[in-house]
Amino acid sequence: MAVECKIEWEDLNRKMEKMFPMPQIMAKILQEVNNPNASAASLEKILKNDPSFTLKILALANSSYYGVAAKVANIRAAITLLGLNMVKSIALHASVSDLFRVTANSFGFSGTELWKHSVGVGVCVKMVSRRLHLGNAEDYFTLGLLHDVGLLIEHQFFPEAADAVLKRLTLGPAKLTDVERELLGTDHEVLSALLCRKWSLPESVCTVVKFHHHPAEAPEALRRTTAAVYLANTIVQQAGYGFHYRSGENITGEVLKVLGIEDVDAQVMQEDFHREAAEISLQFA
Ligand SMILES: [Fe+2]
Ligand SMILES: [Fe+2]
Repeated sequence: MAVECKIEWEDLNRKMEKMFPMPQIMAKILQEVNNPNASAASLEKILKNDPSFTLKILALANSSYYGVAAKVANIRAAITLLGLNMVKSIALHASVSDLFRVTANSFGFSGTELWKHSVGVGVCVKMVSRRLHLGNAEDYFTLGLLHDVGLLIEHQFFPEAADAVLKRLTLGPAKLTDVERELLGTDHEVLSALLCRKWSLPESVCTVVKFHHHPAEAPEALRRTTAAVYLANTIVQQAGYGFHYRSGENITGEVLKVLGIEDVDAQVMQEDFHREAAEISLQFA
């Protein structure tokens, strides 16, 4: 029996503000890095305000996600060694991870597994961006972390319909967004974009997450970035890393064309991700 759910957008907006506020520390960091006078000292001041957050950042900076050979013992050393951009990305990583902890488990879904998937996509899309010289690799990492936050919203606010979506996907490969649109009247791409917009993230971030399963529909200026997220998402999904389902999605010729690569390049990236995944999996043990 289909569980249909008509979303009351006004109600959802109100609830989202209460249950998914932008992590305060994330707001402060974003404000600071957009400040033309931002410096290592000013960022250090924000990050050191919260000792447990400082510990989290140092643990991440010394983990294999960031591939830094030298160990960092304090925030100042992290900023000096890794640079402002990477420390910003680590700080966002640390602040967003808490959101994934609050969600309840439901049919075939857990916040922890979705977090693992999101980190996997972050690591993979960062690798793709470096290989294809697409721009700031840390910004790509952030896109990976945030692309599926809409799934959290779905499972938090519409658990029955969200369960029905996952149940339907066990019946056979299907496109997640098609099933969501049928049963929910919207999909997690739209919900991810909504949350990013609520958090006043750059419009480019909102747009990329909104089209991450439909890169061909993304505005031309962001199509390559969106295709990179699609590619990384498909690689991580097919590797069965973290939350995954019987997806009807493949690395299509169209995506390869947008990225300007061949099938064989995508295969190399898949192999690279498998190697990286073995390393980062240790963090989830
Ligand atoms: Fe997605
Ligand atoms: Fe995803």
